[in-house]
Amino acid sequence: MNSKLQEAVDDIVEKFKIDKQFLIDATVEFNLSMEAGLSADKPAREYMPMIPTYVTSIPTGKETGLYLAADLGGTNFRVCSVLLNGDHTFGIKQSKYKIPLDLMANSTADALFSYLGKKVDAFLQEHHAEYDGEEHLKLGFTFSFPVNQTALNRGTLLRWTKGFDLPDCVDKDVVELLQRNIDLLGTKVKVVALANDTVGTLLSRAYSNNIAKTKAHTTVGAIFGTGTNGAYFESLDKIPKLKASEIPEGATGMVVNMEWGSFDNTLKILPSTKYDQIIDAETANPGYHLFEKRISGMFLGELLRVMLMDLFERKYLFQDLYASRGGSLPHRLAEPWQLSSEVLSYLEIDDSTDLKMSELVLENHLRLPTNKEERLVIQKLTRTISHRAAYLSAIPLAAVISRVKGQYPEDDDGDFEFGCDGSVVEFYPGFQKKILEAVLLINPLEGSSKKISLRIAKDGSGVGAALCASLA
Ligand code: GLC
Repeated sequence: MNSKLQEAVDDIVEKFKIDKQFLIDATVEFNLSMEAGLSADKPAREYMPMIPTYVTSIPTGKETGLYLAADLGGTNFRVCSVLLNGDHTFGIKQSKYKIPLDLMANSTADALFSYLGKKVDAFLQEHHAEYDGEEHLKLGFTFSFPVNQTALNRGTLLRWTKGFDLPDCVDKDVVELLQRNIDLLGTKVKVVALANDTVGTLLSRAYSNNIAKTKAHTTVGAIFGTGTNGAYFESLDKIPKLKASEIPEGATGMVVNMEWGSFDNTLKILPSTKYDQIIDAETANPGYHLFEKRISGMFLGELLRVMLMDLFERKYLFQDLYASRGGSLPHRLAEPWQLSSEVLSYLEIDDSTDLKMSELVLENHLRLPTNKEERLVIQKLTRTISHRAAYLSAIPLAAVISRVKGQYPEDDDGDFEFGCDGSVVEFYPGFQKKILEAVLLINPLEGSSKKISLRIAKDGSGVGAALCASLA
């Protein structure tokens, strides 16, 4: 390999390294940011929002009933009906609707929510034609953006993330918006609960988890998908910002939506390479959700793309291609957000001779012809990006474990598990293994023989929203 190129790649790899001491220090910092968010009255850029959710218990698996769930959190809107059988199992019917790009930005809250209302109605007609509309069906609304939640069924949008940008929606109550648009159609559905996808994931995994068999407490509900975030159950005495009047009767604790995508927005400790800075500047929320921008699916492909463009601009890569095309590069390489993390998942595991499989993937997905040397570089950078992402992902998980391990009695011998959902943790090769590897390096259970495992919460946010609706 050309020595200048080799040097440049080595330099990137070096800047993306995450060592044990960094993980330990960042976990301490994460805990401080949790504390600050749990205490402060007002949200601030310096610490995580730590949003109380008004969910005051964790399912036991015995919950029963039929509920609807609607889920907005990324590029799709999902509507489902969930039948909780009361024995850790459930039945689910669901439909997925792609959110038209022109409703995600440069549009209005009403246009988006009118679309969502129509899909709830369409779902009922398709899957529950038998429903006579006598009683309102209860719906749990999974809305996976930062919300200032003031009751189980009330919350105003704090800010958009993950590419959504409809300014007139900020500060509006999203339950009201959805309810109004459902009512306009005369559909007999009542939105009774609002939940973040991480809350849904925590609840749904806790419901499915048969502790008698797994011997493990579900400690965190985490999403590693388009975005990343987590929720956990906190004792009320550790949430000083909750006023006595806001605490539901009889409650001893509450699920908190951390919005950990916003961990360390002031970059006290997180690595910040020039590529991270380019990406932040390209987003609709610069300066916010900086942890998410180093980890989640929406950004992994873009990180690779900006690295490759940098190496091209420094004249180390794609020079012949550029000349042969008369001074241009394929648009999926040249334009932001065109390289998806799914492509990285193929490049990551390619072990074919001369990386022939990557050659095809790059041709098919990016229309990018490559030589062997370029493919070696691309694979190295891909692995560098995903390794840092998976290792950073361990920080919040370890921090929560170290925080909640004291919630259990001394003689409790249960292990701990994380309930996870999202395309990256579910499908990206090796991601789960690396997260656990890094959690072990941090070692939040030092001195104990308890184990930590990671479980995928299938249909997490749908079932979780139904469980939230069952609490109403
Ligand atoms: C973003 C959202 C958060 C959500 C996460 C995962 O970080 O702000 O609410 O939970 O994505 O979908």
